[in-house]
Amino acid sequence: MKKIITITNQKGGVGKTTTAMSILGVLHKMKYRTLGVDLDPQGSLGFSAGVDIEHCDTVYDVFTGEKSIDDVIVSTEELGDILPSNIDLSTVELEFRSEGRECLLRNELRKIAGNYDYIIIDTPPALNVLTMNAYAASGGLIIPMAPEILSVLAVSQIRDTIQTIKENFNPDLEVLGILLNRFSLRLRLNREVDDMAQKLAKNLGTKVFRTKIHSSVSVAASPAYAESIITYDPASKPAKDFKSLVKELMNGK
Ligand SMILES: Nc1ncnc2c1ncn2[C@@H]1O[C@H](COP(=O)(O)OP(=O)(O)O)[C@@H](O)[C@H]1O
Ligand SMILES: [Mg+2]
Repeated sequence: MKKIITITNQKGGVGKTTTAMSILGVLHKMKYRTLGVDLDPQGSLGFSAGVDIEHCDTVYDVFTGEKSIDDVIVSTEELGDILPSNIDLSTVELEFRSEGRECLLRNELRKIAGNYDYIIIDTPPALNVLTMNAYAASGGLIIPMAPEILSVLAVSQIRDTIQTIKENFNPDLEVLGILLNRFSLRLRLNREVDDMAQKLAKNLGTKVFRTKIHSSVSVAASPAYAESIITYDPASKPAKDFKSLVKELMNGK
């Protein structure tokens, strides 16, 4: 399994934060040393992990050089370490204009990567300089998709961004796969969803993960308890699905 993985899709609401939290939850429970990096100015990953994102230092303070990354990382009980974000991060696009601004995160993670087995990066619903920072720092990408919005256009935009990052900063970046989220029994019978996902994966030179993530109301409820679905409702379908996703990732490269 790649050490640094970014969860990405420029659409909101497809399950990026849920996937980041759940993978962290599984790995943390397996006693791996994990870091979750929140690059979304909405701060959902840190917030869902129980971090007081309104009053803490964030990845923004690290990028400006105000704080060292060690000082900003916080420990959480259920999800391991978190590098939080908040609305401050929304000005990065305008504020950082110099060459190499895509590598701010990569340069910082290099300082602390030795402390962790796995680093999972959550991204905003956009393809911007923050997303590019995530891609430049990562070994692999996971693209969650909701079956009702499988979009050819979205995929070709992601492909262009990946290409730019590969050519300029990170030739080894790999798309690990498309993750079908919010799967239901009804959709399982729907060949069209499968065919479409396969087509999009081919377009990106990747696969559709064998593991699909089922829908459950527990997923939406868990962040209120600063937990991932893994500990909040271990018997639920999505909890089992995310465990099998991690297994699938570990059985890969
Ligand atoms: N498998 C699922 N079953 C039920 N609800 C889900 C599932 N995945 C995500 N959700 C819910 O959908 C909403 C959007 O998910 P989220 O992970 O925040 O997406 P994103 O980070 O891509 O915007 C959240 O309220 C979340 O709880
Ligand atoms: Mg999110």
